[in-house]
Amino acid sequence: MISRSIADGVQILRIDRPEKKNALTGAMYTALAEALEEGNTDDAIRCHLICGHPGAFTAGNDIADFLKYGLSGDSGDRPAGRFLKALVLNGKPLIAAVDGLAVGVGTTLLMHCDMIFASREAVFKAPFVDLGLVPEAGSTLIGPKLMGNQWAFELLCLGETFDAERAEKAGLVNHVVDGDVEAAATDCARKIAAKPPAALAAARRLLRSDRDALLERIDREAEIFTERLTAPETIASFEAFMTKKV
Ligand code: COA
Repeated sequence: MISRSIADGVQILRIDRPEKKNALTGAMYTALAEALEEGNTDDAIRCHLICGHPGAFTAGNDIADFLKYGLSGDSGDRPAGRFLKALVLNGKPLIAAVDGLAVGVGTTLLMHCDMIFASREAVFKAPFVDLGLVPEAGSTLIGPKLMGNQWAFELLCLGETFDAERAEKAGLVNHVVDGDVEAAATDCARKIAAKPPAALAAARRLLRSDRDALLERIDREAEIFTERLTAPETIASFEAFMTKKV
C-alpha cells in the first residue's frame, strides 16, 4: 500500500490505498519510515517525492486503528511514531505532490517537506481537536513558525478546511499548479537530485537547525495524544465515523 520506485535519483513514495482514501495503517507508516531511513544511506537516492492519487493524498491515520488503540488502551508502540521521527531525521530533500484530500497527518507531515506542490483540488484539514485529539508530528512547533500563530490556530485547533489558495497564502504550500501536479513536483525533484549532494545536504541541515527541539516536541505531543486516544469523547468521535454518523 506504499509503492516505491527510484528513477533519476528520485525515490517516489506513493500512498496507495485509494479505496480508503489513502488512510494510513501501521504497516503503511512502517513502509514510509523504512523508505526514508534507507534513503539516508543509499547514494542512489538524492531526493524523495511523496504523493497519493488524484482525489486523495491521504485521509490521515486509519480511524479503525485509532479506535482499536482507544478501546484497548494499548497504543504505546504506534508505528506512526517511527515515521514521524524518520521525517525529522531524514537527510534527503522531501518534495510533496498533493492532489486532493490531505487530512490529519496528511497535512502535518507536509510541514516536514522541503517543497510542496498542490493542485487546485487540494484540500488541507487537521481535525484533531474535533476528534478529541491534539495536533501531532511536531506541528505545534513547526506550524506557528511556518504560518504564524493565527493561521496555525485556524488550521490545527479550529480544524478549518484550507483550499489550495489559502494553504499557499498561509505559507504551507510553495506552488499551486494548474494541470499535472505530480509532473511539476517530479521535475522539481529531478532538479534537486542533480545538485551537488554534499553541498545540498549541508545547506539543508543549516535550514533545519531545530531537530532536537522537534523530536522533543513530537514526544510531548505523543504523550498527550496517547492519553486522548482513550478518552470517552474521542472514542465516541471514532465510533461516529466508523458507523457513518458523521
Ligand atoms: N480511516 C479509515 N477509513 C477511512 C478514513 C480514515 N481516516 N478516511 C476514509 N476512510 C474510508 C471510509 O470509511 C470509506 O470506507 P468504506 O467505503 O468501506 O465505507 C472510504 O474510505 C471512502 O471514504 P468516504 O468517507 O466514503 O469518502 P468521502 O469522499 O465522502 O469523504 C473524507 C472523504 C476523507 C472527507 C472522509 O472519509 C473523512 O472525513 N475521513 C476521516 C478523516 C479523518 O478524520 N482522519 C483522521 C485525522 S486525525
